[in-house]
Amino acid sequence: MIVCILALGLFSSALGRHLQDGSDLSRVGRLRGEPGDAEERRSLERRELSRRSAGLNEQTCTALRGVESALQNSTSTYTFKVRSMGSLSLAWVGDGSGVLLVLTTFQVPLFLMRFGQSNLYRSENYGKTFKDVTNVINHTFIQTEFGIAVSPDHSGKVILTGDVSEFGGFRLFRSRDFGLTFEPTDLPFVPLIQMLYNPGDSNTLLTLSITLDLWLSDNFGSTWRKIHNSVCLVRWGPRNSIYITTNTNGSCNDKGMLDLKKTMDYGKTFHTIASRVYSFVLGGKFVFSSIMTGMGTERVIHVSVDGGDHWNIAQLPAVDHQQFYSILAANQDMIFMHVDDPGDSGVGTIYVSDDRGTVFSKSLERHLYTTTGSDTDFTAISSLRGVYLTSILTEDGNIETVITYDQGAKWQPLRRPQNTDCDAETSTNRPSRCKLHIYASYSTAMKMNVPVLPLSQSNAVGLILAHGNVGDSESVLAPDVYVSDDGGYSWLQALKGPHHYAILDSGGLLVAVEHTNSPINQIKFSTDEGQCWHTYNFTSDPLHFSGMDSEPGSRSMNVSLWGYRNDYTKWVVITIDFRKVLSRDCNEGDYEEWLAHSADPSGSNDGCVMGFRETFLRLRKDSVCWNGRDFAITKKHLPCPCSAADYHCDFGYYRPENKSECVEQKELVGHALEFCLNGTTEQLQTSGYRKIPGNQCEGGFQPERKETDLRRLCISDALHSKSLTDSSSPSAAVIVMVVMAILLVSVLAGAWLVKKYVCGGRFLVHRYSVMREHVEANKIEGVDDVDTNYMETEKTQFNDDSDQDLLE
Ligand SMILES: *[C@@H]1O[C@H](CO)[C@@H](O)[C@H](O)[C@H]1NC(C)=O
Ligand SMILES: *[C@@H]1O[C@H](CO)[C@@H](O)[C@H](O)[C@H]1NC(C)=O
Ligand SMILES: *[C@@H]1O[C@H](CO)[C@@H](O)[C@H](O)[C@H]1NC(C)=O
Ligand SMILES: *[C@@H]1O[C@H](CO)[C@@H](O)[C@H](O)[C@H]1NC(C)=O
Ligand SMILES: *[C@@H]1O[C@H](CO)[C@@H](O)[C@H](O)[C@H]1NC(C)=O
Ligand SMILES: *[C@@H]1O[C@H](CO)[C@@H](O)[C@H](O)[C@H]1NC(C)=O
Ligand SMILES: *[C@@H]1O[C@H](CO)[C@@H](O)[C@H](O)[C@H]1NC(C)=O
Repeated sequence: MIVCILALGLFSSALGRHLQDGSDLSRVGRLRGEPGDAEERRSLERRELSRRSAGLNEQTCTALRGVESALQNSTSTYTFKVRSMGSLSLAWVGDGSGVLLVLTTFQVPLFLMRFGQSNLYRSENYGKTFKDVTNVINHTFIQTEFGIAVSPDHSGKVILTGDVSEFGGFRLFRSRDFGLTFEPTDLPFVPLIQMLYNPGDSNTLLTLSITLDLWLSDNFGSTWRKIHNSVCLVRWGPRNSIYITTNTNGSCNDKGMLDLKKTMDYGKTFHTIASRVYSFVLGGKFVFSSIMTGMGTERVIHVSVDGGDHWNIAQLPAVDHQQFYSILAANQDMIFMHVDDPGDSGVGTIYVSDDRGTVFSKSLERHLYTTTGSDTDFTAISSLRGVYLTSILTEDGNIETVITYDQGAKWQPLRRPQNTDCDAETSTNRPSRCKLHIYASYSTAMKMNVPVLPLSQSNAVGLILAHGNVGDSESVLAPDVYVSDDGGYSWLQALKGPHHYAILDSGGLLVAVEHTNSPINQIKFSTDEGQCWHTYNFTSDPLHFSGMDSEPGSRSMNVSLWGYRNDYTKWVVITIDFRKVLSRDCNEGDYEEWLAHSADPSGSNDGCVMGFRETFLRLRKDSVCWNGRDFAITKKHLPCPCSAADYHCDFGYYRPENKSECVEQKELVGHALEFCLNGTTEQLQTSGYRKIPGNQCEGGFQPERKETDLRRLCISDALHSKSLTDSSSPSAAVIVMVVMAILLVSVLAGAWLVKKYVCGGRFLVHRYSVMREHVEANKIEGVDDVDTNYMETEKTQFNDDSDQDLLE
């Protein structure tokens, strides 16, 4: 979790460009951003707009006295001596150790060889000062792609993969002491991807060689053994399991021909858990795999909740090969799945699963997710359970933000912040549409002027920072920064214009830096969850700002601003320690009780979400004090009686707009609901409600629901193609099954039938699915956000990409 590689490579390409054409002086590199020319131009145009700044609610704010001088004493500047044109990556080692490693790399791709130079720096004081420690790795060149591999368990293990091709190979530099000393080890192979730590035991490492052999070390990289060949993709699973796809022909291009294998004993034995696999992902307790049906290029999503021993076809609407599926989020209870609508509409439908991941209910229609791949605003809010936000595309072409507070059961627009007004046209012509709209990944992908994504942290309860605007849809104007302190129920405009922001001290302190193309000298901070902002000029020599960084986990009080000065050649880091501002330790009186999800204080079920209500102790807004590194959330948990809101509509049912009752789909009235699970037919007797997975309500509304095993064999997976094609017998005379069988026999008929039976899109049908390659393979990132057990970092995405690069 602590691994935080912020590749500043963009800056290098920007700078490289700048040096070539000598004109684009205003270009600023950004952490994690991928500014394109269009954005640059637009942000230049918008500079006028974003120049207004400072605290918005100044009238009501009282100045903090003596802050300027206290902060001046706590501001450190470090200039990197090396004239580095290249990229800069940084990694925090350990939790609370204050150790930050920085690798600057300058590399030139020279045909297939790489040539370059790296420098390694180490800070022990949260980035205030650095030491050039390039000598501890013997001045070995480290490719940017391999970066700094930090163990996820905070044990202080670090691996750098050095390129010693002049001596014919690669050398690992391994540290167990937070990067103080490194031990060199020559690798018996040429690595293709960064070392993958076993999340359950950081002494065990996996990696792939460029010949696609899978290598494992169980002594932290000291010795290696080859455990498999022809491996296309590898992932650590829970409990020391390893999942791989392999190809017997040795070619990973042949995607639908892959075998999915699993080992529980570090590669001594492998079992094939699925064949004819196209791709797989792990998320929450689920394993997903798309498996060829044996007919043409069609494939279908299979789900397993027991690590791949048993598979079931996910019951989702049919899609043709222009459409795609994507897993938006998964936790231990359920998943959110996006299913693309037919045609190039850019929208689809979100379905939520049951706790087996097989039976899905419709959650949100017209969900914006462009076919170019990963452009969706879907965001899991980690500061309050059950909260997700995303965007829909309305019939008349507006992009609107919607939020759910109960894990997808109900979605609604965001309220307009109290301290804002809509533009004149909207407020007079369409007052009901004057709402807040949040900018997330979609806007970033569209190169709008949004420097950072919405931010929330589990230890900063209820707090969300995000860019947005108030109006009838997302506007093209520069966004402002909005803050919610109650998990998205109410919002406040906090800062005018786009900013970079960070949460420090578990929410006790927010900091922000204006996003502009001119050099900056000012940081803004708030001690009351974004209501009042104070400013501090941290330098007299303004900085071209690249990015802001603080220790992951938001417990720190130190924030580092990275950038460069006018000569463009030297990295500068300015670290500000806010401890002097929040000099007093918080005590009991600084906290107050807060009921989460409280939308209607007079209602008897107020605060009930997912079957229980939670009361937190939160810092009072007017308390200016330090939560401290050891701050732990204090909460009380009370069960709630069940109501209709604790249920998803069951298979075959839907909730009409603005209604809380579930209604049976017309086309299903009078039919028995049957589906195939684990190889036998299950009959579903339902009054239309299915408890939301993870919901803990007790008593109250308890609708009847029964699944009966009819003891009739059926096909619940496509693992054996013969049985599938042989099985289209009409004796399973239930709509679901007939539709499935016919679809399996003929793709063309399938497309036609889908239109016919899936009318309204409400009828969930067993069917093979066509997922687009990269959506399938890469969308696991969203999954990992939710399930921190096997949180993967940006590096993993790199692994996928590098696989692809090699294989093409
Ligand atoms: C700043 O730090 C110096 C020592 O480093 C100390 O003598 C001085 O009192 C400090 N000033 C303030 C305003 O804290
Ligand atoms: C450092 O590199 C030199 C050659 O450049 C080599 O002779 C020496 O053994 C290396 N030392 C270590 C500790 O790797
Ligand atoms: C892989 O092997 C299968 C049979 O095992 C064969 O049908 C297929 O054409 C081969 N693919 C390639 C790319 O060689
Ligand atoms: C701080 O810097 C801003 C420009 O960024 C300037 O307008 C302001 O006057 C400065 N404030 C102080 C106290 O120097
Ligand atoms: C900030 O950095 C200093 C070292 O410069 C460290 O002693 C302190 O603990 C850090 N503060 C927090 C809250 O992490
Ligand atoms: C649902 O409620 C909203 C606002 O309360 C209203 O604008 C909309 O027309 C309603 N929809 C239906 C189908 O009644
Ligand atoms: C399928 O059967 C296995 C045992 O035969 C059981 O462990 C598993 O939970 C079943 N899966 C489902 C989804 O019912």
